Amino acid sequence: MPELTTLDEKLGEVLGLAQAAQTAAKKVATLARKEKETEVVEVLQKMQEDAKQVEERCKEVATSRDGMKTAINMKARETKTEITDFMKTYLEDAETLDGLEFLSMSEAGELAHWEILAKLNETAKDKQIANLADASLPIQQRHVATVRQHALRLAAEEDPSEPA
Ligand SMILES: [Fe+2]
Repeated sequence: MPELTTLDEKLGEVLGLAQAAQTAAKKVATLARKEKETEVVEVLQKMQEDAKQVEERCKEVATSRDGMKTAINMKARETKTEITDFMKTYLEDAETLDGLEFLSMSEAGELAHWEILAKLNETAKDKQIANLADASLPIQQRHVATVRQHALRLAAEEDPSEPA
């Protein structure tokens, strides 16, 4: 298999993060549903759909990176596994707020990876990667902002003196 370039490796990572984001949104939506946090459930369903679209777009671009598709997909799988393993540890006996804390980390990480990919591409100047990053960056910015907003809203509703 050909060795990944730095650009292709980063593409594999954002692909894996988009896949992991779907698993995470689904898991936290389950917690939110149990606590009847309907608004959070809706927001997470939208995030899951967004992540699915980002995944598809990444896969399309990966297909066009000559001979790199398999290696990019392997990198994606590795990244996805790392995040979902961390998620399982973090979300043992979790409540919705814990779930939103996890998402605040994973979504911020996802945004950072997109910013890094876009920065690498300022040098690489690949048209497809440029379009992909342009489309994905505002989505990730929105995800980070939305997760933060709902995490803080739930925190404001908590009783800080209650046993944890
Ligand atoms: Fe995201």
